[in-house]
Amino acid sequence: MIKKVGVVGAGMMGAEIALCFARAGYHTVLSDMTQEIAEGGKLKQEAVLDKGIKKGKITKEDKEATLANVYPTCDINEMSDCDFIVEAVLEVFDIKKSIYESLDKVCKESTIIASNTSSISISKLASSVSEERKDKFVGTHFNSPASVMKLVEVVPGLLTSDETVTQVIELLEAVDKVAVRVKDVVGFGLNRLFHVMYLEACRLVEEGVCTPEDVDKICKYGLGHPMGIFALLDITGHDLNQNVDEILFEAYGERFRPSPQITRLVDSGRLGRKTGAGFYDYNKEK
Ligand SMILES: NC(=O)c1ccc[n+]([C@@H]2O[C@H](COP(=O)([O-])OP(=O)(O)OC[C@H]3O[C@@H](n4cnc5c(N)ncnc54)[C@H](O)[C@@H]3O)[C@@H](O)[C@H]2O)c1
Repeated sequence: MIKKVGVVGAGMMGAEIALCFARAGYHTVLSDMTQEIAEGGKLKQEAVLDKGIKKGKITKEDKEATLANVYPTCDINEMSDCDFIVEAVLEVFDIKKSIYESLDKVCKESTIIASNTSSISISKLASSVSEERKDKFVGTHFNSPASVMKLVEVVPGLLTSDETVTQVIELLEAVDKVAVRVKDVVGFGLNRLFHVMYLEACRLVEEGVCTPEDVDKICKYGLGHPMGIFALLDITGHDLNQNVDEILFEAYGERFRPSPQITRLVDSGRLGRKTGAGFYDYNKEK
């Protein structure tokens, strides 16, 4: 029975992931390298909740109750009695490995450790924990922004038990997520589908078939997407898009060859909304 949750890493993903559990009533420990960064994660959550109040989706009481469930800390020992821990730190194997080694020592025997990695093999990450915990190590790939996007890909490694997968799927459903079980392959399911589609969208523009604005209209009014693919790419950021393309290209070859358009955007510093421009110019909005 999962009662207490931990999230390591209070960055963009970690703060949002912790928010999902806190909102559903789970006591949630949110840790990072310093107390200041961990508290910063809680401030990000507060900003998300304030937006929810403005939109009339939640009440002030909901906000207070949610924030009361979040315990920011820089001490990983505070995770000792957590039943389920999601790691959402930088996408660097050695950093993740050292965190799993610490968690493995500190946590209860029954604690499940999950990684939010987007590109590192779950079986490889699981090699950092003790033999006894390898069946309780799993991938949980949340999507950004995690408090809004319902999909979570649940990725068992070679030694993950079915019991762990079932427990994690039940937990995710309890916090109103839609869990999909996928194999431990590069890009899992979502990124393979998304990147193949967006690379074709780039080709449509590159070949002069239609403009980015028109591709976005095709997505919205022909495919029923809530937003256009180029508008979405500007949100995810072209440095990240390019990075994932390169990983997929290395794994699967030609069908994921990185787009020259994305390379040009990255080279010119037009990384998307975060730099004020990408496929679209957001400076004009100000
Ligand atoms: N950004 C996305 O859209 C996205 C989507 C799905 C998955 N992911 C994955 O989620 C993970 C986190 O990505 P992010 O975008 O939130 O990164 P981020 O840079 O916003 O946050 C990473 C956090 O990890 C913390 N950190 C670094 N070393 C640490 C340590 N030793 N102990 C504790 N905390 C430490 C940093 O201080 C930072 O707050 C990555 O594995 C990434 O691949 C990202």
